[in-house]
Amino acid sequence: MIATVRRARKLDGAIRVPGDKSISHRALILGSIATGRSRLRGLSPGADVQSTRRCMQELGAELDGATLEGCGLHGLHRASGPLDCGNSGTTMRLLAGLLAAQDFESELVGDESLSRRPMDRVVAPLREMGARASWPPLRVGGQAPLHRFSHTMTKPSAQVKSALLIAGLFADGASSVAEPVKTRNHTELMLQAMGAAVEVDGLIVRVEPASRLEPLDMDIPGDLSAAAFWLVAAGLVPGSRVMLDGVGVNPTRTAFVDLLLGCGFQVKFSKSRFVGGEPVADLEVTSAAALRSIHVGGDRAAEMIDELPVLAVAATQIPGRTVISGAAELRVKESNRVEAMEEGLVAMGADVTAVEDGWVINGPRFLEGARVSAHGDHRVAMALAVAGLIADGRTEIDGAECVEISYPGFFDHLEYLC
Ligand code: S3P
Repeated sequence: MIATVRRARKLDGAIRVPGDKSISHRALILGSIATGRSRLRGLSPGADVQSTRRCMQELGAELDGATLEGCGLHGLHRASGPLDCGNSGTTMRLLAGLLAAQDFESELVGDESLSRRPMDRVVAPLREMGARASWPPLRVGGQAPLHRFSHTMTKPSAQVKSALLIAGLFADGASSVAEPVKTRNHTELMLQAMGAAVEVDGLIVRVEPASRLEPLDMDIPGDLSAAAFWLVAAGLVPGSRVMLDGVGVNPTRTAFVDLLLGCGFQVKFSKSRFVGGEPVADLEVTSAAALRSIHVGGDRAAEMIDELPVLAVAATQIPGRTVISGAAELRVKESNRVEAMEEGLVAMGADVTAVEDGWVINGPRFLEGARVSAHGDHRVAMALAVAGLIADGRTEIDGAECVEISYPGFFDHLEYLC
């Protein structure tokens, strides 16, 4: 599908972004090994979360709308064939942790993009725990129980941390994972809410083997990584005012908002509350007045890894030189996001140079509509659509249907707000 986007006169209106993708995956996976019925309202409708839903059904969980009948910690059964994780790295990595601990073997497969992504980062530590695990193709399980472990991660990854914590529920003693930077902590919060003995001490997370997990009853907050596109779009288009209701504002996810505030964007939080153990607020974003240059490097890049493509768009309008570094991980996401964003933004007239671990961007530059490619990557498609809203003429995004991965209603919201 080719999506056509034109310059917006202003963005105005109130929307609710889809349920948080990270939390939705975890709720489906952990709810499936709980004892009893979970109720999960507002799960992400995106294709990634549908992949997790189908995998859990294959493994024996009963899912009907918002109701999930858990199998208990030891009640999953072998799927009839390979488990299809589609485009979803979170599905594949979290399930690798869960399935490595089962006494049956599973094979996890994905689409072309997922098949290229690195899985050794989860396979190697699982093997240290005594699990049977190999890649490629990704095969795990058949050797239970796992040994207790103490693992120090060298690269920040919430997916790997989560996989190991889930495996730790099935180990023969207390285990720990140390991460180099604090990454999203939804697994820790959810496991604690389900009664598991999970303790957090700075960058170290300890988990004890579990005998039972309580079911969940939760509303999934809106996805801040989806809201990020509107924060930038409304900030850049003069005269805009967008209300985003019920967005998750877990502090392990808000580094991007702090950065925007620091460079002159206007985002107000109101009605702060807790929903399903996660902090939530309504956000109001209005156009930015004057923008100040930014520098993102090292740990900060890891804290806003999913927001960096749209940050690159913002940087094209920020005066001076913006350096975004420490983000080599972007090269092994759904696409090579470093190259994909450079290609798209340069085609639109921006001054963007890809470097090994990020971009150097000189702004502000006047953008012009062009034919660009999403490279099959939902976040690239949406970031380029935001660029299209501030560009002259017509921006055509090739392969824009991939927004379905995390935000099926994205272009409807765009039309409504503009
Ligand atoms: C996610 C973790 C991040 C993020 C991805 C979702 C998660 O990946 O980019 O979109 O839900 O744990 P990494 O763990 O590879 O950094």
